[in-house]
Amino acid sequence: MMIVEGGRRLSGRLTVQGAKNSVLPILAAALLSKDQCRIRHCPRLRDVETAVEILRHLGCQARWEAEDLIVDTTVMDRCDIPDELMRKMRSSVIFLGAILNRCGHAEISYPGGCELGPRPIDLHLAALRTLGAEIREEGGSLQCTAPHLQGAEIVLSIPSVGATENAVLAACGAEGTTVISNAAREPEIVDLQTFLCSMGASVQGAGSSTVTVVGKRPLHGCDHTLIGDRIVAATYLSAAAAVGGEICLEGVSYGHLSTVTTALQQAGCRIQCTPEQICLWSDGALRGVSPIRTSPYPGFPTDAQAEVMAALLRSRGTTVFVENMFENRYRHVPELQRMGADVRLEGRVAVVCGVEKLHAAQVQATDLRGGASLVVAALQAEGITKVTQTHHIDRGYADLAGDLRALGAEIRVETTEDEVT
Ligand code: EPZ
Repeated sequence: MMIVEGGRRLSGRLTVQGAKNSVLPILAAALLSKDQCRIRHCPRLRDVETAVEILRHLGCQARWEAEDLIVDTTVMDRCDIPDELMRKMRSSVIFLGAILNRCGHAEISYPGGCELGPRPIDLHLAALRTLGAEIREEGGSLQCTAPHLQGAEIVLSIPSVGATENAVLAACGAEGTTVISNAAREPEIVDLQTFLCSMGASVQGAGSSTVTVVGKRPLHGCDHTLIGDRIVAATYLSAAAAVGGEICLEGVSYGHLSTVTTALQQAGCRIQCTPEQICLWSDGALRGVSPIRTSPYPGFPTDAQAEVMAALLRSRGTTVFVENMFENRYRHVPELQRMGADVRLEGRVAVVCGVEKLHAAQVQATDLRGGASLVVAALQAEGITKVTQTHHIDRGYADLAGDLRALGAEIRVETTEDEVT
């Protein structure tokens, strides 16, 4: 549980944690060589612990050295991911392409949906089949075999982040060249490309819609520093925008969250960016902004929708959000309404009408970013808000409470026995 006393302005300087959505595919990529990789600036997250559990289940070793995660994949004596691990983190499907590449076969249980709604993997499976994999879906498990992966032209009907990553990881083990069209362009895919090239792979074009992989390169371990987490940065900027103050964030590229900073500038914040840092000044009196529509990168990130919504709850005016990426990504709204927010939902549309003030309440985190939005709202509320089920938040934030406290927030964590650990 997080206990937040609202009303404090934020000020100070903070280095943003490494990107969760980079480290997960990079841990899968480490399987492509029988060697050791050092991943620097690695955030200690529940999702990273789950990925480490998967690597250890496969027979690999992993250990922490301060902020570095060292992975040794010399030994790998299993090629399956059991149901309980798949259920802990549905993005574990990202290991499928890498296991197939390393072992020639793989077995995972079907990753279920998650709090955001169904999370289909049809594009992942289609891409792997195009590379020559045979995939049988039997009773909730996927049996995959690919004794010989062959480079091919892959066209993704949706620029899916995970499908792009799975295709790249499998293509590194395919004979010949693979060209992935309509690839996702997220910065975390560029980070994965950087990691793979450091291993000796030939991957080009990440960040654009066409990624080209020349497979079967001899690969070795590498030493890689993760990019900063743009969504964690967006969370802190949203918090400072909402309560007022001035903060500077280091370790994240402002170009990776320019749609978020543009929205916050429209709302009345002053933002100054240099290659080293993003600084935001706000008097806490925001105004509504033009409609925010989530879309694949470089569009407005769906992962920042909840946090920016929370920042605008007391703005003068109205803001319309359109959530185009996931079906069920407004689960934080009823919790925000308990704090006095005026948000009206119509399917994928949320209309936020600014209110004079928010009041403290006991609210429950429903998912990772929705939970973060409750904390952003609590920082503005009058009184002391309790946010429960914060294990959702721990999946993506190494120390949300500690970081916000370092910026002047009155927030602490209490562990209560009734909460899922
Ligand atoms: C990644 O999820 C991120 N997770 C998500 O972040 C992020 O919200 C999402 O990309 C969109 O940016 C990681 O990187 C670990 P997608 P992913 O495949 O890869 C549909 C967070 O908060 N789709 O790009 O699962 C899908 O249903 C998490 O950090 C298919 O239809 O997202 C969705 O509507 C949440 N078939 C859209 O594509 C498929 O085979 C985009 O999904 C795959 C996806």
